[in-house]
Amino acid sequence: MKHFTSITQLGDLKDALAAAKYVKENPFADQELGWNKTLLMIFFNSSLRTRLSTQKAALNLGMNVIVLDVNQGAWKLETERGVIMDGDKPEHLLEAIPVMGSYCDVIGVRAFAGLQDRDYDYNEVIINQFIKYSGKPVFSMEAATRHPLQTLADILTIEEHKTKNRPKVVMTWAPHPRALPQAVPNSFAEGINMTDYEFVITHPHGYELDPAFTGRARIEYDQRKAFEGADFIYAKNWSAYAGDNYGKILCTDRDWTVDAEKMALTDNAFFMHCLPVRRNMIVSDDVIESPRSLVIPEAANRVVSAQTILKSILSDL
Ligand code: CP
Repeated sequence: MKHFTSITQLGDLKDALAAAKYVKENPFADQELGWNKTLLMIFFNSSLRTRLSTQKAALNLGMNVIVLDVNQGAWKLETERGVIMDGDKPEHLLEAIPVMGSYCDVIGVRAFAGLQDRDYDYNEVIINQFIKYSGKPVFSMEAATRHPLQTLADILTIEEHKTKNRPKVVMTWAPHPRALPQAVPNSFAEGINMTDYEFVITHPHGYELDPAFTGRARIEYDQRKAFEGADFIYAKNWSAYAGDNYGKILCTDRDWTVDAEKMALTDNAFFMHCLPVRRNMIVSDDVIESPRSLVIPEAANRVVSAQTILKSILSDL
């Protein structure tokens, strides 16, 4: 694998899940693969899980790791060409990227959507510049439109817990006080569409995602109806995608919070969320703390997904 920005680049999902299972059972089997190789992790946005799990994955593979927080301790970076740089950004990404590329063998990038300009976000301008100008393999640690390391961990977690060949997976919008990108729900939908699971997405009117990601999912605007018979509830907030409402909050109705009453409509479903999660906005305390909550094993599988992808990239260096 050269670059990794979408779960669709894994090709056969079953093979990828088998590779992930091997990595999970044999975390130190490929230590020589990363010897004398350096991973540079670049964060334009905050992180807990991605930062720690990807670093741990690289260490398991024998790599050295450098972490750069672009907004803390580094020069502020201009990202647009043609800008007269007389403001507060003394360095341009177009010089910074090849410089960063010269210090490492593999680059991980986290660069969220700005939610101001849909075309800019959906063209993945930042991560694509890293791919174009760094000269190194680049993987997404959550970009503007996708979070594929999260998606691989999510599907691995479902595979580990499912008790039916074709479980019903429901992705539900839930309220949040801030406008969040669509990257996680887009990517989750993209990944679930690679499986044969029954797939339902539920959200208030106005929160329709890009159909290029939702694909074959059934959209159900009645959250309670969507939950009926579900085996997995995957909760996430996102801001509006459609038209002039792009990046806006249209609803803060806490009737959409996942609680025990709604979980009782399911077939004893597992609860999932990528974290961080706002308790009693997205999900009630009792649901996230229940024995059916998978949020911790789901987060733990982030090491496995990162290591699976890094191993594939290192194998093709
Ligand atoms: N789920 C996830 O990517 O978590 P962080 O934002 O903490 O990395």
